[in-house]
Amino acid sequence: MYKILEKQVLSDVTKLMVVEAPHIARNAKAGQFVIVIADAHGERIPLTIADHDPTAGTVTLIFQEVGKSTMQMGGMDVGDSFYSVAGPLGHPTEIEAYGTVVCVAGGVGIAPMYPIARDLRRAGNHVITIMGARNQSLLFWEDKMRAVSDELIVCTDDGSYGRKALVTQPLKELLEARPGGVVKVWAIGPTIMMKFVSQTTQPFNVPTIVSLNTIMIDGTGMCGGCRVAMTDGAKFVCVDGPEFDGHAVDWSNLLSRVAFYRSEEQAAIEHWRDHVCNLEKVPAPG
Ligand code: FAD
Ligand code: FES
Ligand code: MG
Repeated sequence: MYKILEKQVLSDVTKLMVVEAPHIARNAKAGQFVIVIADAHGERIPLTIADHDPTAGTVTLIFQEVGKSTMQMGGMDVGDSFYSVAGPLGHPTEIEAYGTVVCVAGGVGIAPMYPIARDLRRAGNHVITIMGARNQSLLFWEDKMRAVSDELIVCTDDGSYGRKALVTQPLKELLEARPGGVVKVWAIGPTIMMKFVSQTTQPFNVPTIVSLNTIMIDGTGMCGGCRVAMTDGAKFVCVDGPEFDGHAVDWSNLLSRVAFYRSEEQAAIEHWRDHVCNLEKVPAPG
């Protein structure tokens, strides 16, 4: 169970794995996630279900190697098995026929955005996708995104591919050019990106859904690790989310909470590098 059936390198730091998990594949919906434990001593890490195939009994996970656990998983190969994959967890994305919608995906957020854009289009929406990354080497799935979007805008922060812009720039231009035309926006990517997407849409009063990346432990609403402050009180991302109204999130509280364990995360990488593998250089997390 949880055998890795396929592995693809999507960018220098991004890996795709197709994993055997029939019970999850049968029940998964866009927007949901799993909690993976790589080996018997591993920690629990949440990853979005980027795709699933109920017939083959597989789920597709895409992850960026940012720290000890994701680097360890990235070193696993076809034929290896994860110790545990639990899910599907969280509420699915609310897919309806809204009209013209914009999907904003940043970096590894392109992966979880794919099934959402695909299902929104199947439901009859006009889907405009804006995908971006720091540079070209971090972009992937442009063709897949194009296939599920009516319009696609690709940008990079450094201009190495597509338009040289942050994703919020084409978003603002779209909202200005089509007053009242865009009825809903989804944003998935780094927390700071989702904050600025929400700030961009707020003056236009366009409802904006963000998928929050809080620190999770049990994923069942018991530990409180994923607590997030919202205008209408505290919520647990694992059981109340992961999708929330971006205009109701207390972004400064969230940004400080996700960075809370930085020194422990760096120590875990160093311990793993020194004792388990012989990496010469490991980037700092975050
Ligand atoms: P660490 O060095 O331990 O941490 C690096 C950073 O990752 C931390 O600063 C923190 O912000 C975050 N993080 C650390 N531990 C956790 C944890 N237990 N839970 C959540 N975040 C943590 N990443 C992807 O690449 N692809 C995905 O599809 C994806 N989906 C996610 C879905 C949800 C619902 C959430 C909450 C997070 C998702 N993430 C995804 C983020 C992913 O869980 C973290 O990158 C991963 O846990 C980092 O683990 P690490 O040990 O490699 O890095
Ligand atoms: Fe423990 Fe959400 S992860 S309460
Ligand atoms: Mg970790």
